[in-house]
Amino acid sequence: MITFDKCKSFKGKINVPSDKSITHRAVIMGAMADGVTVVRNPLLSRDTIATMNAVQQLGVNIVNERSRLLIHSEGVKNFKEPYDVINCDNSGTTARLMMGVLSPCNFYSVLTGDPSLLRRPMARVIKPLSVLGADIRSKDNNKYLPATILPADMKAGEIIAEVKSAQVKSSVLLAGVQLEGITTYVEKTPTRDHTERMLKAFGIKCENNQGRISVTGGDLVQAKIDVPADFSSAAFYIGAGLIFEGSEIVIENCGLNPSRIGLLTVLKELGVDIKYEITNDEYEPIGNIYVTPAQIKGGKVGGDIIANMIDEIPVLAMIGLFGQAPLEIRDAKELRVKESDRIAALINNFKALGAEIEEYEDGLKIYPLIKEPEKATLLAYDDHRISMINIILAKKFGVKVLLDNIASLDVSYPEFIGDLLSLEEK
Ligand code: S3P
Repeated sequence: MITFDKCKSFKGKINVPSDKSITHRAVIMGAMADGVTVVRNPLLSRDTIATMNAVQQLGVNIVNERSRLLIHSEGVKNFKEPYDVINCDNSGTTARLMMGVLSPCNFYSVLTGDPSLLRRPMARVIKPLSVLGADIRSKDNNKYLPATILPADMKAGEIIAEVKSAQVKSSVLLAGVQLEGITTYVEKTPTRDHTERMLKAFGIKCENNQGRISVTGGDLVQAKIDVPADFSSAAFYIGAGLIFEGSEIVIENCGLNPSRIGLLTVLKELGVDIKYEITNDEYEPIGNIYVTPAQIKGGKVGGDIIANMIDEIPVLAMIGLFGQAPLEIRDAKELRVKESDRIAALINNFKALGAEIEEYEDGLKIYPLIKEPEKATLLAYDDHRISMINIILAKKFGVKVLLDNIASLDVSYPEFIGDLLSLEEK
């Protein structure tokens, strides 16, 4: 079991690691483009390394200079049949986006993953890709990995979103760009738009007309991509800054793409106005975020905004433990199929701390903690975001809180503990 000393407050400036979603996309599109793509400030974590390994198995060369990747490729049309199964490890983004990339290719490939990924739903990508003509066979009647992707004669077409998921949208667009004509993905609820922005940076026509996202088939051209810092990693400092008295945290040069910062909108509705400024908006908006302690007033959060804060809901739920009144989070059923069932994980851990919680199929209601926990064990469920919440709670309550495991931090934020402790005021 792991314990941490109690901390009074967190103060200072922090630069969080680069964006995971954008790094995956830069590696994938850099591999699909003919030429040498330069990716500056990539995230090098277990998830993005899974994507790098995947494209390397297709014959793409990556020179990893740490602060930048040079991706040498002859383009998607020259991808080679992989010599072995492609292991996507813990990464849903790798599996789902690569399925889109591989489905129009004229060779045989197999995608698999770690035990967590093998439990995550894949029909959401297999179905729309099959509508475009893909030939994919996968476990349990096309529901789960492993998946076999066979050569197929795919045609451009129109897909209506059935799940609010940027991964599904991206998978369809990455297949669509390889097909002649226009492929359209219609989404009622906007999800993160990094793929659309980046396709344009790689010279592809991609337009969004009120939720009708169209990509015109064509060849990607080499690009230079700067990866901003990850708002989803920054969110843990937003949570910590709000709940530790006397904190003053500045998160510098962070990605502030409007489709990612739903947490800030929701906090404002809950009475906490986090200040931020955009300092650069060339291709993805970036800027600084200023966090000082505040208590949310409680209420109900749900609807379309959930899609723009899906990875930040564990942080919001944690903030709810220290709010003035109960906080209900709904329309978040997707949390059940993330790296863990995050609704169940949060509920079990918060109950272990002594909080009163109500469970719904699509969310939870958190009653503020009325007293410090006596002794509690918080489990990580092999989920990086749950681990980071547990570490912050352990810093809040000290050695009374025991953590079972923190190994999953390397999925998105290997340096989390060092970075957090660098802000600690004893
Ligand atoms: C991601 C999209 C989201 C998010 C995941 C990364 C992406 O998943 O939860 O961490 O990079 O497109 P869904 O598309 O399944 O909502």
